[in-house]
Amino acid sequence: MTERGSDGDGTRVIHAGQPAPAAGQPFLPGPVFAAPYHLGPGQRYYARNENPTLDAFEAALSTLEGGSAVVFPSGMAALSAVLLTTLRPGDRVVVPSDGYFGTRIFAHEELTRFDIRVEELSTVDVDEVAGAGGLEGVALLMIESPSNPRLDVCNIEVVTEAAHESGCLVAVDNTTATPLGQRPLELGADFSVAADTKALSGHSDLLLGHVAARDDERAARVRAWRTRSGAVPGPFEVWLAHRSLGTLDLRLDRQAANARALANALVEHPAVTGLRYPGLPRDPSHDQFTRQMRRPSGLLSFELADADTVECFLAASRLAIAATSFGGLHTTVDRRAQWGGDRVS
Ligand SMILES: Cc1ncc(COP(=O)(O)O)c(C=O)c1O
Repeated sequence: MTERGSDGDGTRVIHAGQPAPAAGQPFLPGPVFAAPYHLGPGQRYYARNENPTLDAFEAALSTLEGGSAVVFPSGMAALSAVLLTTLRPGDRVVVPSDGYFGTRIFAHEELTRFDIRVEELSTVDVDEVAGAGGLEGVALLMIESPSNPRLDVCNIEVVTEAAHESGCLVAVDNTTATPLGQRPLELGADFSVAADTKALSGHSDLLLGHVAARDDERAARVRAWRTRSGAVPGPFEVWLAHRSLGTLDLRLDRQAANARALANALVEHPAVTGLRYPGLPRDPSHDQFTRQMRRPSGLLSFELADADTVECFLAASRLAIAATSFGGLHTTVDRRAQWGGDRVS
């Protein structure tokens, strides 16, 4: 694999995880479809442990994240791997109250069965609580910054330093930023976790996730969990994601430009309230976004009066389509309130 420190993002994503050029060989070898391999000393033997297609994509993600990466069949599989490899009965875990609802549901419905105490904290409060020693006795703090859907941003460096002083590990759900937008491991976090289903793979055609760890031993623990639990993605999805990665820089640039144009068009619109886009100077997250992040994403959020107004908005729009995901090639609108209860934010 070739990478020079001076390479820009566009070059880095094109070459990440690709083998050194060899005459007669493809740039990115195709997916390897195998369950067992022919046995031999020192060779791969079974695909739940090892697959060269996964190895190549993990090498790419490790380069971009700055720490060993392990790929999973979905973002939730990646998030649950971090929770289940770091927590023990009797532990306390803090999850975002305003982040992706799936993390909260998993924590409340699954972790509590193992006598793990689940607490919630909003992204805007996490800096202050961590700074005031509020993480004393907490085993793991899960943060999501920028949070989905309200796009609040916390100070990962300050929070992580305070958490570590309290003996608390920190995992960051980096889905909305991607490793081109923010590198949580460089900011001190122990884990960077993401749903690569979204912008990283970016074509709305697969589910995938990954965990990257600052410490190789923690990455090895997550990898062992994957082998033992069997939460291993198939090679075709992984290969598609690796192929798509090459355009991540271009896609993010265009998505951010489009999101900024939309945010500027909506900000003064009389029907719109609560517009959030951290790239806008008037956004409450803008200062922290500017200090911490490398680029904005293509995600923005706002409120309309009611469900009927959202229906009118969608009916009048030629390009925006209703769908509960983001980060792909299409402009999608997800009315969070339609999901109700816990799933609104
Ligand atoms: C911030 C965030 N984290 C995690 C997930 C879960 O990812 P997946 O659907 O791939 O399991 C999502 C999905 O929307 C998300 O938005």
